[in-house]
Amino acid sequence: MSTARAFPNLALVKYWGKRDEVLMLPAAGSLSLTLDTFETRTTVTLDPSLRQDAFELDGAENTGDARDRVRAFLDLVRERSGNASHAHVTSTNEAPTGAGLASSASGFAALATAAAAAYGLPSDAAARSRLARRGSGSAARSIIPGVAIWHAGDGDETSFAEPIAAPEMRMVIVILDGTKKAVSSRDAMRLTALTSPFYDGWIRATEASLESMVSACRAGDFTRIGRITESHALRMHAVIASTDPPIRYLSPASVAVFDAVGALRSEGIEAYATADAGPNIAVLTRPEDSATVATRLSVFGRVHDVGPGPGAELVDTGEPPGAPR
Ligand code: PMV
Repeated sequence: MSTARAFPNLALVKYWGKRDEVLMLPAAGSLSLTLDTFETRTTVTLDPSLRQDAFELDGAENTGDARDRVRAFLDLVRERSGNASHAHVTSTNEAPTGAGLASSASGFAALATAAAAAYGLPSDAAARSRLARRGSGSAARSIIPGVAIWHAGDGDETSFAEPIAAPEMRMVIVILDGTKKAVSSRDAMRLTALTSPFYDGWIRATEASLESMVSACRAGDFTRIGRITESHALRMHAVIASTDPPIRYLSPASVAVFDAVGALRSEGIEAYATADAGPNIAVLTRPEDSATVATRLSVFGRVHDVGPGPGAELVDTGEPPGAPR
């Protein structure tokens, strides 16, 4: 039995588009901040008597898409390890699943870490990042603490995330809607690549944003990091809106938060908004401004003032197998 924990990450340069859907290679690299809030905790228990993997999510047996993705992931782990055992997988999420808060990132980072230990696969961060990538692309980054760059790479071996130095930053997350998104990021990404007339431009722009972001991080230039973050997020939502049929994740309330963040900037408080595949907004701030920004944005919904978090890691529960947590 192996238990791991992992946290979501929020991308400052987004991943939106695959070059290879089987190997889960991204069309461009990306960069993110792993958070210290909304933990996922996952236990993998091998059971040679099982004929199929069993998956329990947040206390209930899961029989849907999530279970199928866990099974497909464990098929890969079995193939690599040569151990054919099926497993019981038990996972709990502190964040609402499917609301654009990247629970698939923390979920597959925790699963990759627990499964690598349970099945005896290599446990170094690069190996776990490559493995987590196969479950959900963005999970490659949740293996890494703090700011992570995920290299697009040119194949399985070279596409993984690693840490990168950056200045101190926090994020204020504004929860506008905790319900499951209508179109999964996986389906929406595919539709974007297939139907958007702007897709090639988006990928080229992402490569350029990543290069600028890396140099801004190295220089400790928070203002440049923030500007790239907000403009890159809006570009992603623009390319998503340009699909056929169109997809729109931002709600009127999301747009109102972008405006409020602009108003904070005009008062001299540096804050920059971003959003993933959902209506909730994350606002990048300097550590000394996060409390003010959180208070100001609390009129829109529940706010969480979060900092950089640890990478995915094994946890010793100190409990005998089968004991309730
Ligand atoms: O890894 P996925 O399929 O959850 O896709 C993540 C997509 C975004 O969250 C919107 C962007 C990103 O880089 O995290």
